[in-house]
Amino acid sequence: MQSGVRHLVSIDDLSLAEIQALFEHAKQFSTDLRAWSHLCPGLISASLFYEPSTRTRLSFESAMLRLGGGVLTAADMRSSSASKGESLADTVRVVGGSYADLIVLRHASEGAARLAAQYSPVPVVNAGDGSHEHPTQTLCDLYNLWIERGRIDGIHVVLSGDLRYSRTIHSFVYALARFGANIVCVPLPGFELPGYVMQRLREEFGVEPTRADVSRLGDLARECDAMYLTPQKPHQLSLFTDAKGLAVERVDALYMTRPQTERYTADELSRTRVVHLGKEEMAAESLREAVVMHPLPRRDEISPDMDSDPRSIYFKQAARGVPIRMAILGMLLNRIDLSAPGERVVQPMYPVTRGSNPCANPTCISRTESRHVTPSYRLASRAPVRAYCAFCSQELPHRWVGCSTTGLFHERDSPAARKIRPDHLVFLRDEADALGQGFAAAVRPTQPS
Ligand code: NCD
Repeated sequence: MQSGVRHLVSIDDLSLAEIQALFEHAKQFSTDLRAWSHLCPGLISASLFYEPSTRTRLSFESAMLRLGGGVLTAADMRSSSASKGESLADTVRVVGGSYADLIVLRHASEGAARLAAQYSPVPVVNAGDGSHEHPTQTLCDLYNLWIERGRIDGIHVVLSGDLRYSRTIHSFVYALARFGANIVCVPLPGFELPGYVMQRLREEFGVEPTRADVSRLGDLARECDAMYLTPQKPHQLSLFTDAKGLAVERVDALYMTRPQTERYTADELSRTRVVHLGKEEMAAESLREAVVMHPLPRRDEISPDMDSDPRSIYFKQAARGVPIRMAILGMLLNRIDLSAPGERVVQPMYPVTRGSNPCANPTCISRTESRHVTPSYRLASRAPVRAYCAFCSQELPHRWVGCSTTGLFHERDSPAARKIRPDHLVFLRDEADALGQGFAAAVRPTQPS
């Protein structure tokens, strides 16, 4: 496993100061995109795309070429050794060995970029891992907000569409919460933010969810159970006393997403509907000054008659993907100095030392590529003991935990469970699993009669 190389796997890998510094560099690059070919001559980036892409791959390749570097493209991994059964861990070791100085990876399994980063000798950029994260799209989206609105702190952003499977949304909400933006979720019914994302927002980023009164959003929110996610700050807390929900008065940005049908179950496919945004919906009072964003590709969620509306910035948004990705490449290849360390979100990661992989997500890389993965977890809380998979971020469903040193097992919300050192924890499905793994039941203190 490699160490000492900087990767961009999650939006958490960057401090807010570093993100701000990336914006400044991107802005400078955008003044003349053709003036920076002296920054990366002789360097090569490899695009490993196991899923389709237009914008992400081409904007990364354009960014690398504009910096004076070269690109290798494996855009259809079916024509690579992946179709002969080669593992991702082997592929990145080969490509990062001498072929390329940086790898841009898109993959269908959640956590794939985390795994690739463990094996790659060169920086890995997560260009989308399943429905998990898409940090560089988020940097592009934040950069757009910063350019259009001048700030991110305190602005009101409405997220609409499929919030459950959109990886762009997941990285985006984490970053918006850290920047102190107010987020209004207007999901397609049944496609709300996943529980594990909500939990992280609450527990790690101090976000307070409350009901949103979206009557002023008009038709856009008619069928939705809308939710306000507000960073906990004293001046905003006082607003939560309103039992009718926080009123969405003025929206700064409306971010649309398409239904991510490629990830749906048959049942979800049969329930798929589309939020539709057109001139009529945009006449809503609160949207008068909102910029309309979309990571693209769009299907029917934004009607073409919105394209000429000055509030629609989705094509500009895609164009700004080049300067921001020039900044990302420059940073990871040590060609620009960010001089802005700031605080990153650092959560220790513990390997699973006993038993089977506790992650229950069938599309997590820890399940799809089990030969090369050491299942690992991060702690979410100690009382009760709750943890999430270090690859896909989904919560481990186990209600029982064992201690690898005492050999005893406990219910995860018992006082004894809380005392187990994180690196001694063993996750157990049920009592039978605990006994099968050689754990003994802890003797419960007897109640005085
Ligand atoms: C997004 C993606 O791939 O997650 N596209 C992109 O990178 N611009 C959004 C999507 O496919 O809906």
